[in-house]
Formats: sequence, structure tokens, C-alpha cells
Amino acid sequence: MLHTIALLTALAATATAHCTRPLLKEAVDAYILAQTTGQPAPFTTHFDNSTWLGYRENALKLNITTSILATPLPITHTRSFYDTSSCATFTEVVVNSTTTTPYVIGTQLRFTNHKINKVDSIVTKPGDWLFNVTGYAYWTAQENWDTIPEEKRDSQLTIRKAADAYLDLFNNKNVTVPWGTPCVRLEGGLYGDAGPNGTCAVGVPSGVPMTNRRYVIDETMGSVDVLLDFGASGWPDSHLFRVEGGKLRTMCV
Ligand SMILES: *[C@@H]1O[C@H](CO)[C@@H](O)[C@H](O)[C@H]1NC(C)=O
Ligand SMILES: *[C@@H]1O[C@H](CO)[C@@H](O)[C@H](O)[C@H]1NC(C)=O
Ligand SMILES: *[C@@H]1O[C@H](CO)[C@@H](O)[C@H](O)[C@H]1NC(C)=O
Ligand SMILES: *[C@@H]1O[C@H](CO)[C@@H](O)[C@H](O)[C@H]1NC(C)=O
Ligand SMILES: *[C@@H]1O[C@H](CO)[C@@H](O)[C@H](O)[C@H]1NC(C)=O
Ligand SMILES: *[C@@H]1O[C@H](CO)[C@@H](O)[C@H](O)[C@H]1NC(C)=O
Repeated sequence: MLHTIALLTALAATATAHCTRPLLKEAVDAYILAQTTGQPAPFTTHFDNSTWLGYRENALKLNITTSILATPLPITHTRSFYDTSSCATFTEVVVNSTTTTPYVIGTQLRFTNHKINKVDSIVTKPGDWLFNVTGYAYWTAQENWDTIPEEKRDSQLTIRKAADAYLDLFNNKNVTVPWGTPCVRLEGGLYGDAGPNGTCAVGVPSGVPMTNRRYVIDETMGSVDVLLDFGASGWPDSHLFRVEGGKLRTMCV
């Protein structure tokens, strides 16, 4: 009897800890609407204010009322990933505009008690490293983010290990990275060889620790987004990967 109760309690705890894609999607839709309208207030009704960890833009803690969400942006593209194990999401937002400041924004939302308790955004704009919104908008649309059939999906651990191997390479040349072929690499507005022999093994700088990694893994698309601190200066950075059969096939770095 005691065993049964213990088991039921464990199951109940698991059930509440997990979140569903519809729940996560509803919050992401509210986020996108806030950015489109420049009205953060309706989005904040999805917050868990009792466990609130803050709103960050490029690692800087801001009041959401003075954040980029308070400026309406003519969004031209979004793509979202849902991590139902960690209760977190990642959304890519592109503002391919010639009449307003163009942006490429990557945002992780983290949840507790089925509500958002952390917003973490990387906001890039003209003048930033390799920024080219025309290139980015064009190439991101060419990327393959199809749903992977269930029987071919990698585990969250496999997906994370592939991304970690690439990130570890920046500080340890001995790491073996599971490069896939073809592999395409989008950096700012630059794209690698999109042909059948395209490779992402283009060489990376060395002596660059990639620390404070925060993952959003969506195994239905083989995706992992990692927000991290780049190098000794701790530059805020986002890296998005698609992993198929344990190998890196798409990188947005
Ligand atoms: C959290 O706080 C914000 C601003 O203080 C408020 O607008 C929002 O409604 C609150 N959210 C919840 C779920 O209570
Ligand atoms: C954010 O700014 C608004 C408007 O100035 C203010 O009412 C609110 O208390 C601030 N919130 C926090 C968490 O500082
Ligand atoms: C931006 O990318 C587009 C498409 O790849 C390219 O045609 C254009 O020359 C790039 N602009 C700059 C300033 O590099
Ligand atoms: C991005 O905007 C430019 C300028 O308006 C346009 O020519 C281009 O087609 C747009 N790219 C995409 C992928 O929509
Ligand atoms: C990499 O391998 C070389 C040769 O085996 C070794 O000398 C070096 O210490 C290794 N570096 C790291 C960071 O593990
Ligand atoms: C890809 O590599 C193979 C083998 O080296 C070669 O035969 C083929 O022509 C290459 N294809 C392209 C598009 O470069």
C-alpha cells in the first residue's frame, strides 16, 4: 500500500513537472504578439511572478516596460522550438525591414509552475558581427526543420552531446565533433555550401571557453539552442543546431 502511494505521488510529481507543447505554444504566441504590437502587458499575464528570475536582453537585466518588447516590430519570420522535458522554448524572430531597424532576435522562455519565470533574449541589429538581415532572412527560410519521424529521433542527450562537442572544440582541439554531411552553417548573413558536400567543419578559433550554457532541446526537430557566454569576456551568444542520427546537419551560430 505504501509503495502504491509512493508511486502515485511520484507519478503526480512527474505529471505536474512536465509541460505540454500546447501550453508552451500559447506562451510563445503571446510573446510574438507582444513583440508585434509593442504591448508587453498581455504577455506578462503568463508570468509566474512569485518565482520570477527576470527579463534579459543580451544578458542585461531590464524592466520589460523599457525592453524591445515595448517597440512594435514588423516581424517577417518566426520559428519556435519546444522543450517539454525542461519546460522551455526558443523562438527565432526576424525583422527583415528596410523602413524600420532590422533585427534578428533569439529568445528562450523558461517555465515553472506552467508559467514563464525567465525571459532571455539575444537581440542583434545592424553593426553586430556579420549582421545582414537580407542574407539571414533568405537563408533561414532554406533550412530544413522538418519534423523527424518518431523512430528516427535522437534522444535529448544525444542532441545535447553533439552541440556540446562543437562548443567544447573552441577550447579543446582534441574534441571529436560529430559532423554530418551535408551540413549547412548560417552565421550572420553568411551561409556555407548548401550542396550535397557542404560541411560545417570550417575551423573555429581556439582558447575560447563557452560557458553558462542554457539549452532548449526539441527532439521532434532534432534541435538544440544554446545560450551561452562566449569567451573570456562572456559575450552573450546563441547557437542553434539540428542533429540527425547523432550528427550536426544545420548550424545557426
Ligand atoms: C506579473 O506582474 C506583472 C507586472 O507587475 C503583471 O502585469 C502581471 O499580470 C503579473 N502576472 C500574473 C500572472 O499575475
Ligand atoms: C517596471 O517599470 C514600471 C513602469 O515604470 C513600474 O511600474 C514597475 O514597477 C517596474 N517593474 C519592476 C519589476 O521594476
Ligand atoms: C547580405 O546578404 C545578401 C544575400 O546573401 C547578399 O546579396 C548581400 O550582398 C549581403 N550584404 C552585405 C552587406 O554583405
Ligand atoms: C527581405 O527584404 C528584402 C528587402 O525588402 C527583400 O528584397 C527580400 O526578398 C526579403 N527576404 C525575404 C526572405 O523575404
Ligand atoms: C590534446 O592532445 C594532445 C596530444 O595527445 C595533448 O598533448 C594535449 O594536452 C591535449 N589537449 C587537451 C586540451 O586535452
Ligand atoms: C561531391 O563529392 C563527390 C565525391 O568527392 C564528387 O564526386 C561530387 O562531384 C561532389 N559534388 C559537388 C556538387 O561538388
